[in-house]
Amino acid sequence: MKFIVLSASILALSASVALADPIADRKAQMKARGALVGELAPIARGQQPYDAAKVLATLEEMSKNAETDVSVLWPAGSEAGDHTSSLKVWEDPSAFEAAVDKYKSDVDAAVAANPQDIDAFRPLFGAITSNCGACHEDFRVKRG
Ligand code: HEC
Repeated sequence: MKFIVLSASILALSASVALADPIADRKAQMKARGALVGELAPIARGQQPYDAAKVLATLEEMSKNAETDVSVLWPAGSEAGDHTSSLKVWEDPSAFEAAVDKYKSDVDAAVAANPQDIDAFRPLFGAITSNCGACHEDFRVKRG
């Protein structure tokens, strides 16, 4: 009986840890974002043949990945810990939200455009990826 009670409390503990790890979750979101960009970059560079269906499917994944609840991934208190988010995220939340929304709307515009060739795709991809550097510049601290 003691054993059962103990394992139940360990389960409860690990469940709450799994739910409440916004730092790991936001890093995972960003890593997945990087991987999706990595799939599209060779197509944008013309190093892979243009495949409109693959581009659209990847853009749709990027749109899902871009869905961000800032209060869940960057909650108050999660400025402490091992991560590279700048304090500005918490100091100027409306500017951060605006950057989050702009990224999402640029991804969604590319999905809506459903580009059929590289010339249509390139400027859309350029608009999407310009958000990465811009937001990192403002809201991420550099580590040497
Ligand atoms: C709205 C702001 C914003 C946008 C847009 C954004 N990022 Fe980030 N990114 C961040 C922040 C903030 C961090 C730091 C997260 C942390 O460690 O707390 C980060 C971290 C990362 C990391 C490191 C994750 C880790 O494991 O530490 C990668 C990779 C990354 N971003 C890739 C991208 C790519 C690729 C794009 C564009 C397609 C992008 N990001 C767009 C804000 C943004």
